[in-house]
Amino acid sequence: MEELSSQKTILSGIKPTGQLTIGNYIGAMKNFVKLQNDYETLYMVVDLHALTVPQEPKELRHKTLSIIAQYIAVGLDPEKNNLFIQSHVTGHTELAWILGCMTGLGDLSRMTQFKDKSAKPGANVNAGLYTYPILMASDILLYNADFVPVGEDQKQHVELTRDIAMRFNYRYSDTFTIPEPIIPKSGARIMDLQNPMSKMGKSDSGESGRIALIDEPSLVAKRIKSAVTDSGSEIKFSETDEKAGIRNLLTIYANLTEISIAEIELMYEGKGYGDFKKDLADIVVERLSPIKNRHDDLMKNKDYLEAVLKSGAESAQKKAWKMLSKVYRKVGLVQAVR
Ligand code: TYM
Repeated sequence: MEELSSQKTILSGIKPTGQLTIGNYIGAMKNFVKLQNDYETLYMVVDLHALTVPQEPKELRHKTLSIIAQYIAVGLDPEKNNLFIQSHVTGHTELAWILGCMTGLGDLSRMTQFKDKSAKPGANVNAGLYTYPILMASDILLYNADFVPVGEDQKQHVELTRDIAMRFNYRYSDTFTIPEPIIPKSGARIMDLQNPMSKMGKSDSGESGRIALIDEPSLVAKRIKSAVTDSGSEIKFSETDEKAGIRNLLTIYANLTEISIAEIELMYEGKGYGDFKKDLADIVVERLSPIKNRHDDLMKNKDYLEAVLKSGAESAQKKAWKMLSKVYRKVGLVQAVR
C-alpha cells in the first residue's frame, strides 16, 4: 500500500444502529464502491457513534459485523479498501477530546440532527448525542481525509469538521487537511416510502417505509408496491409536496438503473403507477438479491470477516498513531517515553 500514500484519501462511516437501507446504499455506499479504485479509501463501521442511543450489546455486535459483510457484499474489495471498526483503532476518542476543547457549545447546538433527535418525544438526550459531531470530526481528521462521501443529512457535520480543522490549523500551524463532502446530485436523501416528506432512516422510519439491503425479496417487492403515491397517474418528476412519493420512486429507479429521470418519464408515458411500481419492484429485487445472498454467506464465515477487520484495523492504526502523536506534540503535551 506504500506507493498509494501520495493518493488522495477518501473516508466515510456508517453507524450500526439498524438495518442498512437503500437510502444508505444510494446516498453513500454506491459512491464508496465507485471511488475505491482511484483513491486510498477508509470505510468504517462507527460503533462508538451507535452508543449515543441505547443498544442491546449482543445485537450491536451482530449489526456491526453485518455492516462489514454488507460493505463487502455491495462490492467493496477488502484488498483495496481499509474496512474496519471504529473502536478497533485507538485515537478516535483521544483526538475527539482535543477537538472538543476547541468546539463551541453554540456550534453543537445548531446541528440540525441533534435538534431533531433531541426534540423527539422520550428522546434520551445524553452528552454523547450532543458531542457526536466532534467524534465524527475526529474520525475524518485523524486520517487527513480529502473527501468524505455522505448523504445530504451529514453535510452539516462535515462542514463543522472543516471549521474545527481550520481553527486548529490557524492556532497550531498547518496540521489537518480540510475535507470536502462528496454528495450525490440525485439520491442524497431517499425518503420514507410511507411518509415521503421524511427521510428513510435505519431506525427512525416505520418498518413499512424502508427497504433494508438484506430484506427478503418478497418483502422488498411488497414495500415498493405499497409505497405511498398520490391521486394522479402521470409518472412525472415534480418538486411539489404532493408528488413527493412518485418523485422518490423515480429517484430510486434512476439511481439503480443509471437511466435518467427524463428517459424514465418517456418510457412510462401513458402508463400508470401500477406498471411503474411493478417494474421498480423487479429492479430493486434484482439489485438487492445478490447483495443479500453474499451477505448471508459472509456472515457464516466469521474467520474471513475477522481477518479483513484485523488487516483493516492494523493499517488504520498506523495512520492514527502518527496523526495523534503529531497533534499531541503541536498542542504541547509531553511526548511519552515508550
Ligand atoms: P448514518 O449511519 O446515519 O448513515 C450512513 C450514510 O448513509 C447516508 N444516508 C442516506 N443517504 C440518502 N438517503 C437516506 N435516506 C439516507 N440515510 C442515511 C448518510 O448521509 C451517511 O452518509 N454520522 C454518520 C456516520 C459517521 C461518519 C463519520 C460519516 C461517523 N463518522 C465520518 C462520514 C465520515 C451517520 O450517522 O451516518
